Amino acid sequence: MSTSHRFGRILILGGNGQVGFELQRSFAPFGEVHAPRRSDVDASDPDAVAALIDTWQPQLILNAAAWTAVDKAEEEREGAMRLNAELPSLLAQKASALGATLVHYSSDYVYPGDGDQAWREDSPTAPLSVYGESKLAGDEAVLASDCRHLVFRTSWVYAARGNNFMKTMLKLGRERDSLNIVNDQIGAPTPARLIAQLTCEALRQQIDSGLYHLAPQAPPAGMVSPNRSSGRPLSRVKPWRSTHRRWVASRQQITRRLRHAL
Ligand SMILES: NC(=O)c1ccc[n+]([C@@H]2O[C@H](COP(=O)([O-])OP(=O)(O)OC[C@H]3O[C@@H](n4cnc5c(N)ncnc54)[C@H](OP(=O)(O)O)[C@@H]3O)[C@@H](O)[C@H]2O)c1
Repeated sequence: MSTSHRFGRILILGGNGQVGFELQRSFAPFGEVHAPRRSDVDASDPDAVAALIDTWQPQLILNAAAWTAVDKAEEEREGAMRLNAELPSLLAQKASALGATLVHYSSDYVYPGDGDQAWREDSPTAPLSVYGESKLAGDEAVLASDCRHLVFRTSWVYAARGNNFMKTMLKLGRERDSLNIVNDQIGAPTPARLIAQLTCEALRQQIDSGLYHLAPQAPPAGMVSPNRSSGRPLSRVKPWRSTHRRWVASRQQITRRLRHAL
């Protein structure tokens, strides 16, 4: 991509996370990037975020900060809501006042997980978890705002840094002789680097404000096998139905939701 396209002052929240780190790399040639750490600015503190924006006056805000501890959100609803619902709402208000563009990232957890088709942008939402509810509330706030905005829903994000399914499987594949891997969930693992690069391209092409799904084509179930990269024989991976696990109610629902995630 030509570096002639400039975005001006760019604020990245969550720059230390999987997506945020890749955003920093992708956007560095295209503007003046400011990516404060959590220790610099607590993104769940609206006054701190407002002061940051007032000082930095960004022309582009990329919000990769989120409460991503899905299970923990069930017990800590308020924390999840502050970060996933109230923060994007505040960012949209500030972007609107500044005439800035806001890019926000969301999740397949806003969908119910039933059916047998990939989710589309116009599929009805019906989150089954507090995490899903909080992400949906954030999306709705941004989509309803009058700032220029892009909301990207993605799924099963992985990267070389951070915690993700791919790294967990690679680690377990090295450590254990036999693995039980769920084979009744269908999803599209999405590299954080792809998310960052497509975000940059979408902005460069000035696509319309709105909601977009950002994920590769969903692979058949079982494609995400640790054997492929750990060198273990396939027979050591046992197919495992999600229902074999003693999920608590909310996790059962989350599992259903994932079965047909994008
Ligand atoms: N991970 C997935 O599988 C997945 C799937 C679908 C959608 N998404 C969405 O994609 C986006 C990015 O996810 P990700 O995988 O990059 O998540 P991540 O690796 O967990 O990164 C989240 C970032 O948010 C920051 N953060 C959390 N609480 C904060 C606070 N109070 N103040 C300041 N920063 C705070 C974290 O800071 P620290 O580094 O200090 O913890 C981290 O940098 C999120 O909107 C997520 O909902 C993720």
